[in-house]
Formats: sequence, structure tokens, C-alpha cells
Amino acid sequence: MKIFHTINGFRNNLSVDRCQGLRIGLVPTMGNLHDGHLALLEQSKQTNDITVCSIFVNALQFNLNEDWDKYPRTYDTDCEKLRNAGCDYLFHPDDTEMYPNGLDTQSRVICPTMTDVLCGATRPGHFEGVTTVVSKLFNIVQPDEAIFGIKDYQQLAVIRRMVEDLCLPIKISEAPVYRESDGLAMSSRNRYISENERPRVTILKESLDWIATQITSGNRNFSELEFEAKRRIEKEGFSVDYVTCSQSKTLELAANDDIEITVLGAMFTESARLIDNVSVRMI
Ligand code: PAF
Repeated sequence: MKIFHTINGFRNNLSVDRCQGLRIGLVPTMGNLHDGHLALLEQSKQTNDITVCSIFVNALQFNLNEDWDKYPRTYDTDCEKLRNAGCDYLFHPDDTEMYPNGLDTQSRVICPTMTDVLCGATRPGHFEGVTTVVSKLFNIVQPDEAIFGIKDYQQLAVIRRMVEDLCLPIKISEAPVYRESDGLAMSSRNRYISENERPRVTILKESLDWIATQITSGNRNFSELEFEAKRRIEKEGFSVDYVTCSQSKTLELAANDDIEITVLGAMFTESARLIDNVSVRMI
């Protein structure tokens, strides 16, 4: 695996690959890689000649009160995992390489409306940071395909929208949620869950699944379903950020005649914020 820390060095290398007609797949990450990330790489390897992984803990997508400095940085073990997974190139820039003019004056990519709801409501500026860094990565790598986990459903929907709105010639692919054996979605933030809370955190997914079953069997009383799911989560001792039935593509509130609905939820444990989702397609 070749490792690049500078944009110029990486671009020079990629342009040779591109001249040879090689297809390039990108898996953007913030490191602290787990099996879910490695599955994204595997997916990229199936359909691309070259697979690039980027590791960059993007300060622009963290709020002032969030965990940017605490975010786990595990570069050496990440490199080992990437090598074992057969990753071709790792792009690992530092803050100055990505934001040479500083964060405050950095030009931004904004995807309105969709980013103000759900996670965006409690994490103002977060998605602006994501769309900005992902556009920069897209411009640096110019991949044919980029792969994102469906666990971060809102992120995936926003990136799809950005690519459509800005006519970027990149295929956005999704990869399924990778779960622990009891159903908890894999996340770098799971390490913050206390031992005492760990057996109970599956209530988030269970409650979303319950709503999905209700919708599939014809119940369209979304606000009552959301209310009941919140009650179940709170009963286990967690505080709910949101549980919402949304239109899968636009993330607007689900309506009675919608065919594709995604149920999204976020809850707080003592020191972690967990998210999950489940999609329903009516036939
Ligand atoms: O999902 C993530 O890890 C990040 O939001 C991403 C897409 C790498 C952008 O920093």
C-alpha cells in the first residue's frame, strides 16, 4: 500500500493510473477503522481497479463542544488493517494540507434544508463540514465511485444530493450497516458506551425495527409510532434526540402515500450519541 500525505504527490500518482484507464474507488474515513470500514473497502475492490482510503479527522464537521480532540486516532493499527485488506493507496493529509487558509475562511459547500433536520438539528454546521471535506476529497482523488456506509443515512442522502446538484461524475454507492452480534451498529464511538449501558443500547434499533414492522403492516400514524418508540427508549434509561419517519430520498417528513420511508433515530447514552436507521419500501 502506498501512503500519501500531500495533495500534489497523490495527484501525480493518480494521474498515471487514470491515463492507464484504471477505475478508481474511494472510501473516505476518519480512521479508527473497524470491520464496517473494511467491508466498504472490500466493496470498492469488487468494482474498481484501484481502491483509495482516506483518513482525515475533519475538524470542520465537529462543533465546538464535540469530541474532535478526543476522537480516537489509531494510525498505525489502521495502516496494518488497510494493508491486510488489500487497500492500494492511503491518503493521510494533515490539517494544513487540507485547510491551508485555516478553517474560518475556508470556502464551503452547503446543501440546504436536508442538513437542518435530524442530526443536523443538534449538530449545527456538521453536514456543511462533511460536504465541504467530501467535495475536496472528490476533487483531489476524482474517483469513479465513492462508497459510504448506510449507517450514517443522513450523510449518505446529503452526499447523493450534493453529487446530483453539482453534477459530479461520481457514482455514490452504499454499503450495509455492520453490526455487533447483538445488533448494535458498529461505530468508532461505541467505545464510549459504559459496560453497564452496553446490554441496553440495542433498544434503539429494536424500536426503529418495531416502527418499520408497523409501517409495513399498514400503520401510517407516524407521530404515534415515533412517540411509542421514544417511550421504549426512555424506559431503558436513555434520552432521545429524535425518532423520525422520513422520505428516504429527501429526508422530508414521511407522508401517507410515500413508497420509500426511512425510520431514523438518535439517542444519548451517558457519554455517547448513537444513531441507527431502517428503511421500508412499500410494494
Ligand atoms: O463518515 C465519516 O467518517 C466522515 O463523515 C467522512 C465521510 C469521512 C467525512 O469526514
